[in-house]
Amino acid sequence: MPLRLSARAATLASAEVPYLAIALRKGATLDAALATLDQAVGGALGRVLTSREFRGARDEVMHLLGPAGGPAHLLLVGLGPPTEPGGAIRRAAALAARQARKLGASRIGWYDGDADASGAERAAVGLMMGAWEYADLKTAPPEDERRATLEEGVIYAADVALAERGVAAGAAIGQGTNLARRLAMMPPNLCTPEFLAATARDIGTRHGMAVTVLGREELEREQMGSFLSVAQGTPQDPKLIALEYRGGATGGKPIVLVGKGLCFDTGGISIKPAQGMELMKFDMCGGAGVLGAMESIAQLDLRINVIGLVGATTNMPSGTAVKPGDVVRSQLGKFIEVVNTDAEGRLVLADVLSYARRYEPDAVIDAATLTGACVIALGHTATGVFGTDAALVQEVLDAGTRSSEPGWQLPLWEDYKELITSDVADLKNTGGRAAGAITAAMFLKEFAESFPWVHLDIAGTAYSETDLTYLPKGPTGVPVGMFVEFVRQRAARSSGSS
Ligand code: BES
Ligand code: MN
Ligand code: ZN
Repeated sequence: MPLRLSARAATLASAEVPYLAIALRKGATLDAALATLDQAVGGALGRVLTSREFRGARDEVMHLLGPAGGPAHLLLVGLGPPTEPGGAIRRAAALAARQARKLGASRIGWYDGDADASGAERAAVGLMMGAWEYADLKTAPPEDERRATLEEGVIYAADVALAERGVAAGAAIGQGTNLARRLAMMPPNLCTPEFLAATARDIGTRHGMAVTVLGREELEREQMGSFLSVAQGTPQDPKLIALEYRGGATGGKPIVLVGKGLCFDTGGISIKPAQGMELMKFDMCGGAGVLGAMESIAQLDLRINVIGLVGATTNMPSGTAVKPGDVVRSQLGKFIEVVNTDAEGRLVLADVLSYARRYEPDAVIDAATLTGACVIALGHTATGVFGTDAALVQEVLDAGTRSSEPGWQLPLWEDYKELITSDVADLKNTGGRAAGAITAAMFLKEFAESFPWVHLDIAGTAYSETDLTYLPKGPTGVPVGMFVEFVRQRAARSSGSS
């Protein structure tokens, strides 16, 4: 069950929640609502601030006892310096909810002094992210050792009507984000291409979207030799999944979101080392991001047409697998020399990008856990952003900033092209170690020339191998926030309300 969220007036001393989280910036002072609460707790709040026991630093948490007749516990959470406005609130709210969940609270209150809808939205997304966990495969402890599950979040604000709007939007984004995280976290024997297709059908049924799923036979008919070369080593049926959300004008050109959905990437014949290979269940995070974004977009009821495409398969070594040196023919007709079977994501995306042409897209954005090189370049903080349409790239970067899923642009200059020139075919699927994230994107560009296009390399940002304090280790939900924010901005632009 997703966290139930609501907004209420900020009478904090009598707030009806066992845990009230209070977010404070570095150097913050008490506003009117907090001053009243401070009186009710005998000045304890003011004291920890003036003594600088609590400084409002990022990820800082302090626990105080609440007032009689009000919330039993106060959880002070730091927002850090006032330089990163949006991201700080989402992060602190996630941290607070995570903390409350660990303490066994069933309800959490949130107050950050911010009265506007976007503040409430960010808090709502954060609370949902912090409340989320994947416990399906853990046996529940005996009844007497069980803690309550966090079921409800209440956002306290001065303007309740305004906050309610933000909460509704935040809940939609939070649910899409957590859906993506759930799919990513599921083990690869459960989250198969077939399961991704079933999930897409479920989203389609609930929101009235047309869903088309192509299997191996249909991909053969489509002459997707590039996609199929990756799937030829696995007995599982590969799936090209298409969801059509038609919220905009009939015939209005859609935004197409494309995701790499490698439910497991062993590397194939160019097999990966055993150490850490289990993490390659996360190689479907781009696809999960597309499904999560489609869920959020439908819940937000955006007035725009959006197509979601997922290329789903697994990359396995076997007697039938593609091998280094093989040349395959993509749907577009370009011949590709497969020098490394571990560079499989681009082979799948090449044909899915070609498939996008039939929708006559206004813009295509793909997301893929595409290269280890992108992790080396940008770490786990920024998504790699590539594109030749400067205005579209900027739009995507802005959407990343607004959604606290920042991206950073890397170049796609013609100079890099020669690195993927093949001796026998039109191009080869890897360009060696130098500029690995860029040559991967250069490869995709060959299949994305008939529409404005941006590629997101989310290899470093879609999941974390370490605990992030505000989120546990595992999937982060990236790029759902960025996708939704981009589409939302486009919808606002086309309806003239921006
Ligand atoms: N899925 C991987 C990329 C990846 C690596 C994602 C590490 C997350 C963490 C991709 O399919 C891959 O194997 N890429 C190769 C490309 C190389 C063979 C040119 C890589 O990055 O090593
Ligand atoms: Mn690979
Ligand atoms: Zn991969």
